[in-house]
Amino acid sequence: MLNEQRLQSILPVGAFGEVLHFFKRIGSTNAEALKLARDQAVHGTLVVADEQTEGRGRSGRSWSTPPGSGVAMSLILRPEEFSVRQIGELTVLGALATAEAFERLGVEAQIKWPNDVLVAHGKAAGVLVESGWMEDQLLYSVMGIGINVLHASVEKADEFEFPATCLEAELGRRVDRLEVIQKVLEALSERSAQLGTGDLITAWEDKLAYKGEIVTVQGGPMDSTGKLVGITEQGQLRLQLFTGEVLQIGVGGQQLRPVDRS
Ligand code: BTN
Repeated sequence: MLNEQRLQSILPVGAFGEVLHFFKRIGSTNAEALKLARDQAVHGTLVVADEQTEGRGRSGRSWSTPPGSGVAMSLILRPEEFSVRQIGELTVLGALATAEAFERLGVEAQIKWPNDVLVAHGKAAGVLVESGWMEDQLLYSVMGIGINVLHASVEKADEFEFPATCLEAELGRRVDRLEVIQKVLEALSERSAQLGTGDLITAWEDKLAYKGEIVTVQGGPMDSTGKLVGITEQGQLRLQLFTGEVLQIGVGGQQLRPVDRS
């Protein structure tokens, strides 16, 4: 059971969760966090919901969080507190910390470029970073993390895009969502010290799914198929085409898919 009192018992974790907003039911924790950030909420403010009815995913997709089943959390991050080289680093931080939290819970995790956390080839978590700007000045960012924890969090519709799974399925036991949130915040707290250093990209590349395999990247200016070679220092995907040419693909609204796993 996830409630405000239990959450407060583990908070804060480092700079995160000094201020908590807990909702039994909400449209989107990211939308709420963006609103709070506009209203001057402090760095590290944490928004958590038991159920999300209009959860947002990347590229305008939706993300479902049925009651009592998953983690829907958003953190308000202020640029004065972070040395972010690029805004894209926050997505890397979120995906990496989530993957590391999974490993501390006992399950191996990989990252499907750019920000899907995979367990046993199924998607178990996703990260959505949204930001507020004044002209070209970054005012605040919100890092939203959605995690499929119990079986009920994996809805049939999720499977449409990509195979989905949850921690309960892979660990073979029930998992306490509070423990998951605590582990994610701990990993975020540790890894956030590495923002701007390049170490995050290295750690991300170590966990990259499908390295050395043939993948397609769809949804950019054109679809591309080739061998996934790695990631550049800027977080672009390095894809070697059949001609030998290596493309560098920046993070946009693309979808990466393995071509053949047999
Ligand atoms: C994706 O894989 O497309 C990203 C999914 C991100 C979902 C999380 S759940 C908590 C936060 N609130 C939202 O509305 N979205 C993010």
